This record gives sequence, C-alpha cells and structure tokens, in this order.
Amino acid sequence: MNNNPSGPIGIYDSGIGGLTVAHAITNLLPNENIIYFGDTAHLPYGDKSEAAIQAYSVKIADVLLKKGCKVIVIACNSASSAAYELLKEYVRKDAHIINVIDPMVDHVVNHYPSQTIGLIGTKRTVTSGIYATRIAQAEKGITLNSLATPLLAPMIEEGFFNNQISHEIIAQYLSDEQLGSIASMILACTHYPLIKKEINNYYNGKVTILDSSEIVAEALRIYLSENNLLNIESKPNKHFFVSDFTPSFEASTRLFFGEIVHLEQHRLWN
Ligand code: DGL
Repeated sequence: MNNNPSGPIGIYDSGIGGLTVAHAITNLLPNENIIYFGDTAHLPYGDKSEAAIQAYSVKIADVLLKKGCKVIVIACNSASSAAYELLKEYVRKDAHIINVIDPMVDHVVNHYPSQTIGLIGTKRTVTSGIYATRIAQAEKGITLNSLATPLLAPMIEEGFFNNQISHEIIAQYLSDEQLGSIASMILACTHYPLIKKEINNYYNGKVTILDSSEIVAEALRIYLSENNLLNIESKPNKHFFVSDFTPSFEASTRLFFGEIVHLEQHRLWN
C-alpha cells in the first residue's frame, strides 16, 4: 500500500464530468496533489458494457499507480457500478479506492430513512441496480425509484444547461411517473451537479437534491485523516490528463472545475 502522504489523489471519470468531484476535493483538501484522468476517448461510459468499462478502468488505474497515487477516486457512477469491485482487487496492495456510490448510500440511509427517494443516472448505473441493492440491504424502509436519463450527460458536455433546451429535456424526464411523489432525489451521475439548480427549480425547492461531490470529498478526507495520509506540504500540483484531447474539452473544463485547466493527452492504447 502506498503510504506516502505527499502521493497524489488519482481521480478518474469517462470525461470531464468527474471534475465536479475533483473540484469539491480541491476545495475541501487544498493541500492535496491531484491527478485527474478523463477517458474522453471512450466517453460516454453510460452506454458501454460492464466488461468494456472494467477494461478502461484497469488501464487508467495502471496510469494512476505509475504516477504514485495513494488513493484512487472513481469519480463516475457508471464506472463505480461496473468496475469498483474488480479495481479494488486489482490495486489491493498499492492504493485505496473510493467510489462515488457508497458514500452517497451511507448518507441516504443515515439521513433519509422511510422516504421515497428518486434517482437519475446513466443506463449503466440504473440497470446495475447497485443503489437499490445497497439501500435495501440497510433495511431503513427507503423506497428507491430510479430512472435512466441518458440524454443528460451528453447535453451537459455540450454546454446545454440553464437554457430552453435543457429545461425541456429535464422537465420531460422528471415528469416521468417513476419519479412521482418523491421527497428527495439522488443525482447518480457526476455531470448532474451542473443542472442541480434547474432540477431544484422544476420541483420549486420541494424535493431535496442530493449531489455526491461534497459527500465523496468528505469520505476521502475521513479516510486520509484516519490513515495519517493527509498531505501537509503546501503548493500542491494538479495535473489533468485526457485519453483523447480536443480543444472543446479544454474549453468545457471551466464549467466543471470552475477554473481553466490545461489538459494533457495520455493515450490508454497506442
Ligand atoms: N459521469 C458519468 C457518471 O457519473 C456519466 C457520463 C458517461 O456516461 O460517461 O456516470
């Protein structure tokens, strides 16, 4: 196990959506070195098979381990549902792995017992049934109503949010009867924090919208602190890699990360 506190935190997603999680991590843990990997060559993961996402995840883990990461955060629900168990085994001796699903499940079962909760996410995440299984295992009387919303991640990647088109697509999905009579809603895709306000407006603030970025950053902080792995050096480095560089990805990173970042290309297969 890498027990070097100055080792970077590796964070990956299918693309740039996971930068919402990276941003929450850098806000909460400003001293940590960050290596972000966006697998833009294989985006979107939400439509891919479990086997394909596992293969991409192993390749990305190899890259992050080579760069000395002490922890790997799977900043993608689709990859967390498809590849977490495999990756945990794969990197067992080298680094700790955090996914975006378990911290949210813990939060929900502790704070929202006996509620009817909605969930929106990619096809991969929703068909995996992983949230439903984990929440049912906790036996807190929670009813989970999930809906796959595959148009939302590409819509957001293209910069379509807070406009007429996004309002209509969001309203169309949220009016699905599967999401009737919910008291809270899990955003089970790391792209969706960018449309949190629109979802909140749709429900006139009457449904609590649960976004995992800060919850995951806090789970990471607790792990680092309990294992004496918090980095105490200041002036941390941040590196952002993508498997296929395009200028439009670089332009969009600001939307997700809140500041301009320079993307470097790192191919997974040559
Ligand atoms: N950000 C990914 C997630 O949390 C979804 C985007 C994709 O389909 O690649 O599931």
